[in-house]
Amino acid sequence: MIIFKTQKELKTHLEALNKTIGFVPTMGALHLGHISLVQQAKKESEIVVCSIFVNPTQFNEINDFENYPVTHKQDIELLKNNACDILYLPESVKDVYLYEKKINIDLGTIATVMEGANRPGHFDGVVQVVSVLFEIVNPHKAFFGLKDFQQYCIIKKMVQELELNIEVIGCPIVREETGLAMSSRNALLSEAERKRALVIIETLQFLQKNTKPGNNSKLIDNCCLKLNKSSRLEYLTIADLETLQPTIFLEKNKEYRAFIVTRLGNVRLIDNIEIFA
Ligand code: PAF
Repeated sequence: MIIFKTQKELKTHLEALNKTIGFVPTMGALHLGHISLVQQAKKESEIVVCSIFVNPTQFNEINDFENYPVTHKQDIELLKNNACDILYLPESVKDVYLYEKKINIDLGTIATVMEGANRPGHFDGVVQVVSVLFEIVNPHKAFFGLKDFQQYCIIKKMVQELELNIEVIGCPIVREETGLAMSSRNALLSEAERKRALVIIETLQFLQKNTKPGNNSKLIDNCCLKLNKSSRLEYLTIADLETLQPTIFLEKNKEYRAFIVTRLGNVRLIDNIEIFA
């Protein structure tokens, strides 16, 4: 695996390769969820490029940014052992943002609900950094985990709006044996919090089994009560798969997704599951 610390060297190297590139952008603290993206990229491309960059512009809470786990040594080993060909590990924030770049695109209402409503500016930061990384790497395909389902939808929309020739591929959520969705933030949970966090997958699976065509507000309210007993619930939303607009009225034989964001101590966890009414 070759590690590049500057975008200039990386760009020059990639341009000379003339190979199909699969790109996996990450913020590091890698786990098996990220590795599944690298493996998928390997299957679908000649060269796998990964980036590790904790992007300051997408954090709306300074504590979250400052506490974000950094495990470069382990990450590099993991990537080497999983056939990543190239890693972009920028030496500074400046190396990513060489010049001021404002992305003026209309992401529409998919960006104003859930994470868009609860983390002001977050998606602007994600779109900014991913568009810069896409410009540097110029991949054929880019791989994103469906744990951040809304982010995946936003990136797809961004690619469409900017008319980029990049296929955005969403990969399944990878879970620990207990059902907890793998996340870099799990490393910040205490043992007790890790156990209490199982309420997330239990509730999602309960919703998956019990949602019915028609009004589901009672079911949703009960699930919120349960989540609030062992965590601090930010939102539980069932949303239309395409528009991401929240709904309590479900149509028969239509696919939706249920989303939960909740806090255990200082750790904000996010997860989702598909729902058929
Ligand atoms: O999902 C993430 O880890 C980040 O939001 C991403 C896509 C790497 C952009 O910083």
